[in-house]
Amino acid sequence: MSEHFRVHGGARLVGEVDVVGAKNSVLKLMAAALLAEGTTTLTNCPDILDVPLMADALRSLGCEVELEGDVARITTPAELSYHADSEAMGKLRASICVLGPLVGRCKRAVVALPGGDAIGSRPLDMHQSGLEKLGAKTWIEHGCIVAEAEGLHGAQIWLDFPSMGATENILMAAVLANGTTVIDNAAREPEIVDLCLMLTQMGARIEGAGTSTLTVHGVKELQPTEHRVIGDRIVGATWGFAAAMTRGDVRVRGVNPHHLDLVLEKLRMAGAEVTVYEGEDEGFRVVMDGRPKAVDFVTLPYPGFATDNQPFAIALSAVAEGTSMITENLFEARFRFIDEMIRLGADARTDGHHAVIRGVEQLSSAPVWASDIRAGAGLVLAGLCADGATEVYEIFHIERGYPGFVENLRKLGADVERVSS
Ligand code: EPU
Repeated sequence: MSEHFRVHGGARLVGEVDVVGAKNSVLKLMAAALLAEGTTTLTNCPDILDVPLMADALRSLGCEVELEGDVARITTPAELSYHADSEAMGKLRASICVLGPLVGRCKRAVVALPGGDAIGSRPLDMHQSGLEKLGAKTWIEHGCIVAEAEGLHGAQIWLDFPSMGATENILMAAVLANGTTVIDNAAREPEIVDLCLMLTQMGARIEGAGTSTLTVHGVKELQPTEHRVIGDRIVGATWGFAAAMTRGDVRVRGVNPHHLDLVLEKLRMAGAEVTVYEGEDEGFRVVMDGRPKAVDFVTLPYPGFATDNQPFAIALSAVAEGTSMITENLFEARFRFIDEMIRLGADARTDGHHAVIRGVEQLSSAPVWASDIRAGAGLVLAGLCADGATEVYEIFHIERGYPGFVENLRKLGADVERVSS
């Protein structure tokens, strides 16, 4: 028996919602725990399926992992297995982030290649060429990426593109290399800054976090630490878009509003009143009166508009007044989501990496299928603006990224239920 969501459109979302730790941070921080013998503690971990899967992946390498509420305790042994090809690894797209720590710590790694992804091809050439610059040999064998090094040495590395995954793997290998590594055109996402912060607490010497040039002075060993995972800016953005689309009033807590500067600016351009809160009570509030206005969106690496938010931009454009152009520069197959939006009555067409969307007054409910986490959440947002009941299938995708999604939506007044099918 599987489950799906039934979304009855029409409600205005009103209230407060808490955002917990970022999926795209916690999984990398868990992998970083491999770099130090002893117990690393992570707090503010999200209750999503990928966290226990990553815990299983780390256990298969010899770690003990305890998950309790929002706390993960990872005890890394002196001797790690470098064979990361367990069943959990295959199920987890982010599993590739154990590659850098294993190469750093064990000087060798055999890591199962993550399976195909509905958002498009995700090559590893930059991960490989970066590790090779550090002195490793890498190749693909029997469905695994293999890396081996006699010893790692610092190097100058230029990335073709500021890839998050490649930056993370090279960084986590370089922290234990002999000498200084400079990663140019490095990713600048807040999750990279979070990783740099934790590695620094562990004793790594990193300069330039949050800029395009990361300088890493290798050290002999790292110590375990305790670290709080940053709030999930993509989940935060999801609530911001949901508020704007439903002409609602939502206060989002637990996320740094400056990680969402461009998102919040786009929501303002669409007609929302946005207030940001800093410090202890960090977050933002989005209030929308009337129909959103059409806005253009272009996805780019941070601080550009995140590709992960693109489905929400499409959902907003589908009900906005006017015509929007959405340009996708990272994952071409993400536009497949538009076919599901058309099922819901969106007036949309794509040409290469552009989509043109003419907003309609109201979407029309239909059965739709989530193909990845963000597309799934985008369909739920669209369902909130459709007449009748929209059935969203394949919700396991959504639950990989959104802790308590239905519960939070209901708390905000949405008419959404989980149904067995
Ligand atoms: N790329 C290459 N070669 C490489 C690595 C990347 O060509 O060796 C290309 C990719 O094909 C893509 C671009 O570079 O066109 C950016 O990819 P990146 O490596 O930055 O993505 P990633 O690290 O695989 C992370 C997030 C994704 C998010 C992207 C972009 C995690 C676990 N995943 O993926 O999040 O879309 O960055 O910001 O951190 C999601 O959360 O739903 C999700 C898919």
